[in-house]
Amino acid sequence: MKLMVFNGSPKKGRNNTEILIKKFLEGFSENGNNSYEILKLNECPDIDIAVNKFLENEFIFVAFPLYVYFMPSGVLEFFERFKAYQEKIKSKKIFFLVQYGFPEAVHARPLEKYLEKATGELGMNYLGTIIKGGCNNLIDAPDNPFFNKIFKTIFLIGKNFGETGSLDKDLIDKFSKPENITLISKLLMKVATGLANKFYWRAELVRNNALERAYDRPYLKS
Ligand SMILES: Cc1cc2nc3c(=O)[nH]c(=O)nc-3n(C[C@H](O)[C@H](O)[C@H](O)COP(=O)(O)O)c2cc1C
Repeated sequence: MKLMVFNGSPKKGRNNTEILIKKFLEGFSENGNNSYEILKLNECPDIDIAVNKFLENEFIFVAFPLYVYFMPSGVLEFFERFKAYQEKIKSKKIFFLVQYGFPEAVHARPLEKYLEKATGELGMNYLGTIIKGGCNNLIDAPDNPFFNKIFKTIFLIGKNFGETGSLDKDLIDKFSKPENITLISKLLMKVATGLANKFYWRAELVRNNALERAYDRPYLKS
């Protein structure tokens, strides 16, 4: 199988999406019959080049960082171009990787639903979305033992995909954990925020002569 991969990170140069794609493809390539091509969307001189690559291939993998709970604008622009080719894209098999800073999977669930709905409405064959939080520094510390598990699992997801042409639901569910912040972390955050407000931010307000005006509502109509 040939896999056409689109990297939607808006960063110039090194990026976290790239290293996850690399590990996925190492697993995928364990099957010697597989091949791939990678295109970085923001390095494409013309979006039509990316759209043509998309049209030419059957298996499509779009990987990108979560940006304000959605996709970066360059990925959205790419995505919106698909509408014009509804007849041609019916046979496409598409899947996604969404990675980001916060550790919990819950942050990407609404986007996952959107991706499934939008690809379905376009008549494509949606294979799933790989979700992984806690990825902020992946590219800067690839040897950090903390990230080993992430790299091992994405390798296995790629390997399994290379053998079956589908995403293993158990593997991607495990990969995306934790789903939510734990109760203890929630409590700790509440305490930390309370302390920061009481001491640090209060001191900042005093230092800037703004304590009395902290609750001002300048846009409220009288
Ligand atoms: C403009 C912007 C918006 C972001 N929005 C989110 C977000 O909503 N949730 C989150 O957890 N991380 C967010 N991040 C962090 C990125 O998703 C994270 O650093 C990601 O690993 C960057 O991937 P890249 O290096 O491939 O570009 C945001 C980063 C930027 C610059």
